[in-house]
Amino acid sequence: MITQQIPHATTVSALRARVRSWRDDRLTVGLVPTMGALHDGHLSLVRLARAQCDRVVTSIFVNPKQFAPGEDLDAYPRTLMEDAEKLTDAKCDLIYLPTPDIMYPTGFSATVALKGPALGLESDIRPHFFDGVATVVAKLFNQVRPDMAFFGEKDYQQLLVIRQLVKDLDFPIEILAGATGRDKDGLALSSRNAYLNADERARAGQLNVILKDLATSLQGGTDRKTAEATAIKACQNAFDSVDYIEARCANTLAVLGDGPIAAPTRVLAAVRLGSTRLIDNMAANPPS
Ligand code: PAJ
Repeated sequence: MITQQIPHATTVSALRARVRSWRDDRLTVGLVPTMGALHDGHLSLVRLARAQCDRVVTSIFVNPKQFAPGEDLDAYPRTLMEDAEKLTDAKCDLIYLPTPDIMYPTGFSATVALKGPALGLESDIRPHFFDGVATVVAKLFNQVRPDMAFFGEKDYQQLLVIRQLVKDLDFPIEILAGATGRDKDGLALSSRNAYLNADERARAGQLNVILKDLATSLQGGTDRKTAEATAIKACQNAFDSVDYIEARCANTLAVLGDGPIAAPTRVLAAVRLGSTRLIDNMAANPPS
């Protein structure tokens, strides 16, 4: 239970009553969907929402549908009291805290499945993942009915999946992206960084360095495959295993042709350190 004063809703009807009262006052509403264990990357999205909308709802729901059996659903950090304090400080107006029963009552049988940007990369390793994300985000959009929703570039493929979802299913919602919040050594903030031990944490910052080197190399005109091969080797040396490190079309995540990049590109990586999976990405623009 939350003891702080920040309003929270645990049911769709309580959520809708609050949002309806804002609508009656002609206020705009922004939604920041999260799974909690909030860090400054999440809070930067709340601040962005604050700047764009009259009222901000942050949802916290560890969505079982985006975890496969054997993944970290049970271990996923749950820090509700601290989250509520941080959201109070960030001037969030309402925390939406649905329970699994509310989101997926007995008999629930719908799945939102996408192809396009959802294919490849994360889906090659976690095939269940984007269907689970798209299903819960579609539900959150229908429950909250915000004017705008805010997602982090940290999960770049997820961001493109959500943009496609909104386009394909005609949600009247504008999607805004927030830049990736990082620690001093460049490690992208993530709730899962809590799993890293001291030695792993010291090594984790390498991912940002390797991605930067890859982006710089591509921007300097190096052949894509050569640049990727160097980055793969660097990741193999730095981490326990490498799921992928690749350059893709920034708009569609389509696989690029051979040779130097010729259009806006995104470099994306997923690696493993002990039991922790790190993902990160950044832009690489063609040489002018
Ligand atoms: P979660 O990992 O909690 O992230 C919630 C939002 O915060 C996502 O939009 C994510 O991209 C963003 N975010 C995470 N780390 C960030 C960082 N370092 N800088 C900026 N933004 C960051 O992503 C999810 O939850 C779930 O898949 C969700 C969309 C809530 C659906 O369940």
